[in-house]
Amino acid sequence: MTALTAASGSAHAAILGVGAYRPRRVVPNSEVVDAIDSSDEWIQQRSGIKTRRFAEDDETVPMMSVAASKQALDAAGIAADQVDCIIVATVSHLMQTPSAASLIAHELGTTAAAFDISAACAGFCHGVSLAADMVRAGSSRHVLVVGVERLSDITSPTDRGTAFIFADGAGAVVVGPSDVPGIGPVVWGSDGEHYDYIRQNHDWRDVIASDDPQMPHLIMEGSAVFRWAAFEMAKVAQEALDRAGITADQLDVFVPHQANNRITDTMARSMKLPDTVRIARDIVDAGNTSAASVPLALERMMAEGEARSGDTALLIAFGAGLAYAAQVVTVP
Ligand code: UT7
Repeated sequence: MTALTAASGSAHAAILGVGAYRPRRVVPNSEVVDAIDSSDEWIQQRSGIKTRRFAEDDETVPMMSVAASKQALDAAGIAADQVDCIIVATVSHLMQTPSAASLIAHELGTTAAAFDISAACAGFCHGVSLAADMVRAGSSRHVLVVGVERLSDITSPTDRGTAFIFADGAGAVVVGPSDVPGIGPVVWGSDGEHYDYIRQNHDWRDVIASDDPQMPHLIMEGSAVFRWAAFEMAKVAQEALDRAGITADQLDVFVPHQANNRITDTMARSMKLPDTVRIARDIVDAGNTSAASVPLALERMMAEGEARSGDTALLIAFGAGLAYAAQVVTVP
């Protein structure tokens, strides 16, 4: 047998820069309530959401991704041609193939490896884990991870369980080599028994075969997902702390998927997070942007001084699949 040369990478990986793109159009609850017989008060009490952003025609998945990526690259001090791989987490790039990532790579001016991943709201944290492993294993030195959604394209404005929640935006990070561990071990998994809890309402083949084809949209069993997220995900978050070798009182920042402020509160209580831990609340004016929610929330905390360079942050994301992923990271 002929021996092959093995790849070898950096001993450690870290997030080197963060970027975000928030669509221009701010949509208050008053714009969505009539179609779902709801109220501003109900939406705020049950989810925490006051406003969200909906993308306009030119704010496409690639356009928002490129804007967020440029900001992340600038923050990291890395040029696009230094990126070896681009991972895009999304469920709302409405071209089955090719990937959004290959177009984003081209628009950034690089021929880096590029592919999309589909893990719904958990996609970004999956991407960060893959990127860290790639940097350590040596298949890439710098990896750009993007979480991006235009959920307004696949949300029905008359669906009472989702119309007030889902929204649009993009977040990105650059993952690269580091002298010390900056991305802790991932805790991830899937619970496919509940595949139906959050899903597209119809398979494309059924839509095409229908006499009255309608754009498919997302549907969700809200209370079942709520219970799963609030209780099961607190255990996953705790395991991510354990695997990183830290305790809750060593945490500075908690950045959970922005699904519902009440889920965030329940998780923080179950984990007995001390009051000193600063908690992301981007959902209040971003809504639930699925794969984009964790990087958007992190970027905002950094921009507002709530997350500072060197802080220890717990990320956790969960959603359709049901899929989840959590890791502790150092804020760049
Ligand atoms: O991103 C992926 C992960 N997603 C999540 O984690 C989302 C998890 N789920 C949730 O965040 C919550 O389940 C929702 C915010 C979606 C809904 O809140 P809820 O407290 O679970 O509401 P519910 O479905 O249990 O309904 C409670 C009540 C019902 O009325 P009655 O039976 O108590 O009289 C509903 O008919 O609220 C009513 N209701 C509404 N009222 C006004 C349900 N939807 C609405 C609405 N506006 N849009």
